[in-house]
Amino acid sequence: MDYANRPLVHRLMKFKEADPVSFHVPGHKNGALSGLPAELRTALAYDITELEGLDDLHQPEGVIEEAEQKLTDFYRSDKSFFLVNGSTVGNLAMVYATCAEGETVIVQRNAHKSIFNAIELTGARPVFISPEWDSIAKTAGTVTAKQVEKALTSFPEAKAVILTYPTYYGTTGEELEEAIRLCHEREIPVLVDEAHGAHFTIGEPFPASALDLGADVVVHSAHKTLPALTMASFLHVRSNLIASENIARYLRMLQSSSPSYLLMASLDDARAYAESYATEDIKDFMKKRAGFLKRLNGIARLEAIETDDPLKLMLRVNGYSGYDIQKAMDQVGVYAELADLYQVLLVLPLLKKDQEYPFEEAAKRIEKAIEYTITSKVKMKLPELPVFNQVISKPCYIMRELELLHTEWIPYEESIGRIAAASLIPYPPGIPLMLAGERVTEYHIQSLTSLLATGARFQGAIRLHEKQIFVVTNEAEE
Ligand SMILES: Cc1ncc(COP(=O)(O)O)c(C=O)c1O
Repeated sequence: MDYANRPLVHRLMKFKEADPVSFHVPGHKNGALSGLPAELRTALAYDITELEGLDDLHQPEGVIEEAEQKLTDFYRSDKSFFLVNGSTVGNLAMVYATCAEGETVIVQRNAHKSIFNAIELTGARPVFISPEWDSIAKTAGTVTAKQVEKALTSFPEAKAVILTYPTYYGTTGEELEEAIRLCHEREIPVLVDEAHGAHFTIGEPFPASALDLGADVVVHSAHKTLPALTMASFLHVRSNLIASENIARYLRMLQSSSPSYLLMASLDDARAYAESYATEDIKDFMKKRAGFLKRLNGIARLEAIETDDPLKLMLRVNGYSGYDIQKAMDQVGVYAELADLYQVLLVLPLLKKDQEYPFEEAAKRIEKAIEYTITSKVKMKLPELPVFNQVISKPCYIMRELELLHTEWIPYEESIGRIAAASLIPYPPGIPLMLAGERVTEYHIQSLTSLLATGARFQGAIRLHEKQIFVVTNEAEE
């Protein structure tokens, strides 16, 4: 392993080799007091704190600065940051750095909840752009440049446009570059939640990174597709419109004052991994992937669907929901990333040439799972979800206004025309069906009924047993 190119990993190894005695936090004292399994205890020797020579994430002037500089160079940004609280904190920081209370922000409707939370916390006024329905991935897709332009024309006062690219399912659309150009023409910055695309910088056959398409701020969950620990993420700034110091200020406020060295070391390692991903790795990965795909498509009744990102695959079985497939796969110990009405989503490993993965074993088990639990007869006709009916929408109230209103639970069939008092989010993948402050429409209730019929899980404004949803009382509306 080339540790020279991983300054933080290298420094931690040197530190450990010197057999340090801990009279500092954390209280596990390099693992000595920990009751965790031995493998984890060993790793705790690297779970240290801001000691001499180990720098400080919030004021990097040494080895962390060096590691972040390598990150900046690799992603060709003006400034890149290590994040220890997931893309969640990156999304919070980029929204805080661009939007203040009462200001308008244009946001893609199928954004992650951290984006909605960020908007709520700042008190900005969101305008939602509904995405296209992606008929290949059978899910909400990306927004078109035309939709962005329409929103910009209707809301020229917007302080930022927040887009999600790629979708959870790895779809990218083809219009991000043009959408960014339209925003920049008006000097409006574009913030991109690229949580699922930390590997895009590697280049073809992976899609282009939003950073290379001109976005001002891009957030990556390194832990989703690169070999980084859960929560380890990146934020990149490349902008004439947003100062990276402003982002840094919010990251200092929003991130822990005791950032984990394990997470930071894994970020240093993940960047080096992606940076060293060579043409022969790509070729070999694509070959292994093609073999797996062929094997899966050879399983009776199973269909493997590709999307823009070669790391993502969807599995479908005619007449069965994704939840059925997921249940069957769980029983044979093959765990998918998520299930929805139509399919399960697999996240493939970004393998290098010398690495193996049990694709054949996984295919065998999936075959067995399908054979045992999924009979040949069609269990159900999967409902088609209605396409998003409002292209650009604005909630009637933002959260801090809603908080002042009276609310009640009512049967959801009676809720059409009322104002939703909380968002309604089917899980996974966590895309809000209905957003707090929006007027409930027939579309919302139709979709809710379809999703409930297939066993989807929900968070938010719903009492499933009572078949009720949470709305603003009519008096308060008047
Ligand atoms: C599109 C998107 N953005 C942001 C996040 C949050 O990322 P993290 O888990 O790194 O905080 C997720 C998590 O699933 C996501 O799917």
